[in-house]
Amino acid sequence: MTKSFKALMAIAVGERDYNVSFTDITENDLPDLPVLVEIDYSTINYKDALAVAKKGKIIRSFPMICGVDLAGRIISSPDEKWKAGDNIIINGFGLSETQQGAYTRRQRVSADWLVKLPEGMTSRQSMAIGTAGYTAMLCVQELENNGVEPGAGEILVTGATGGVGSIAVMILNKLGYQVVASTGRKEHAEYLKLLGAELVIERDELDRDARPLEKERWAGVVDCVGGKILATAIAQTQYGGTVTACGLAGGYGLSVTVMPFILRGVKLIGVDSVMASIPVRVEAWRRLNQDIDFKLLESNTADIKFKDLPSACVDLLEGQSKGRMVVEII
Ligand SMILES: NC(=O)c1ccc[n+]([C@@H]2O[C@H](COP(=O)([O-])OP(=O)(O)OC[C@H]3O[C@@H](n4cnc5c(N)ncnc54)[C@H](OP(=O)(O)O)[C@@H]3O)[C@@H](O)[C@H]2O)c1
Repeated sequence: MTKSFKALMAIAVGERDYNVSFTDITENDLPDLPVLVEIDYSTINYKDALAVAKKGKIIRSFPMICGVDLAGRIISSPDEKWKAGDNIIINGFGLSETQQGAYTRRQRVSADWLVKLPEGMTSRQSMAIGTAGYTAMLCVQELENNGVEPGAGEILVTGATGGVGSIAVMILNKLGYQVVASTGRKEHAEYLKLLGAELVIERDELDRDARPLEKERWAGVVDCVGGKILATAIAQTQYGGTVTACGLAGGYGLSVTVMPFILRGVKLIGVDSVMASIPVRVEAWRRLNQDIDFKLLESNTADIKFKDLPSACVDLLEGQSKGRMVVEII
């Protein structure tokens, strides 16, 4: 008889609803995929919170083990590139959407999704970074790819107290950029300065109808919120500047004119972490290992007990948490 373990599972109720609860499963309940992994840590991203709190259409098939990110060790693999004992990370690739996810002690996964844990980084640190931090790095790399250099001017980070935003602030500051953090929670201004923001501005300054072109300010933007805030940021971006859009915490709409693009050559770059290729991921994780201040990361990370995962997801959506959360899977 195989040993049972707990998984946080979404189970359909009728055609349109589902329940999320801890369920005892065994390896026999895992999908028919080649690589068996033991999961040590996971995390809570915005998408996880939506799925667990039943707030968005994240989960596409049921029953579904939730959890977008995992870090752990390989137990067995028929793929010769990977062997038992290898420390690995998975971010996205449809986990918790179309593929069984991370909130379980063991999981079966595809060898095509695996990234080696960078040398010197612990599994726990990799989940303190998680998809949020890996996406923040993808945004920073897009700023670099588009010629936005430290010294070019202010870089705006929106949704700055969140997972993506807080790590973007840390990385950009470490790389020597002048970071301006936009937040709806001004009470966290000191915390954002500690992470590396030179200036903290109120979300309301940007959350309004923008004029087609506004005074040029930002050399680059990391936007986690979309909607009016993104539209205003685009209208305020300097000649030749780059705006990276990765999130929709404030809304998925975007109402802009072509003026910033045709008169200022502003570039709007979409960033997707979920289906990014393995070489892109490996490079992002190499950079994260190099460009994260791990002491600061620790101060930006809360430990959440596996059993408290559902309530922590609600807290995240209600704006009761900040920074990153790590979940030890036991
Ligand atoms: N493209 C990708 O591959 C990818 C990967 C990861 C995440 N994302 C997306 O990026 C976004 C941020 O993810 P996260 O993990 O950082 O989430 P998070 O930790 O919940 O942070 C989101 C932040 O956005 C701000 N915010 C929340 N509600 C808002 C509203 N109604 N209007 C304006 N700002 C609001 C808050 O920051 P302040 O209180 O500081 O304003 C909040 O902390 C999400 O939309 C997520 O789905 C995309």
